[in-house]
Amino acid sequence: MNWETFRNYDALSEGAAALLLDAIRANPKIVLGLPTGNTPLGMYARIIATCSREYHCFRDVVAFNLDEYVGIPRDHPGSYYTFMQRHLFGHVDIEPANTHIPNGIAPDLKVECARYERSIASAGGLGITFLGLGSNGHIAFNEPGTPFDSRTHVVALSESTRRANASFFLDQPVPTHAISMGIGTILESREIVLLASGAKKHDAIARLRSGAQGGDFPASALWSHSNVRVLVDEAASF
Ligand code: GLP
Repeated sequence: MNWETFRNYDALSEGAAALLLDAIRANPKIVLGLPTGNTPLGMYARIIATCSREYHCFRDVVAFNLDEYVGIPRDHPGSYYTFMQRHLFGHVDIEPANTHIPNGIAPDLKVECARYERSIASAGGLGITFLGLGSNGHIAFNEPGTPFDSRTHVVALSESTRRANASFFLDQPVPTHAISMGIGTILESREIVLLASGAKKHDAIARLRSGAQGGDFPASALWSHSNVRVLVDEAASF
């Protein structure tokens, strides 16, 4: 695991955006795994700014989001579909057909999870996947206790995760379930970049850095992968 500590959130976002854009320059047809949440917002803003100068950045890129809520339509203000349109896809030249997000209102969620896995496989697998980190160590929506070999599945969200995401739902209730790529799905990505910023991630980062692997801390599964970078800012790190 390769650790990089940045001075603050802006520097971390700059570093993350550079990694993502370099990956596209190296392989314009790269398959990305993409996160939501507050942490990647700065990275996405910088990518949009760069791509407005350097057009065609995303022309042949394929993207798979890590997760989506169950039971809300994609145009709901709290959906990850809406998040991605607002913060990235609506501002770059990615083909809508190349943007994949699980369908949280599919009539049969198990079938939807299997379909999502098949789409990733038929795109050639994930090339580089960016992850945020839950303060309980979750990656995507894989809560503590999720098997490290799990595939895309339906998840019951913990109370703490629902609270942490409440700001995206304003006064409306946060969904109780989500579809998430599994830990096994994420570990098959050829490269993984984990981003963590701020004092509220401090304990989770300390636990990750300790190297102790265990099902109670999903991000510790990343220790079994040979190409992981962890980008943290000083507040998360010290
Ligand atoms: C949600 C997302 C995760 C994200 C986490 C941390 O649970 N499903 O993918 O990593 O929030 O969010 P934040 O970056 O807002 O701290």
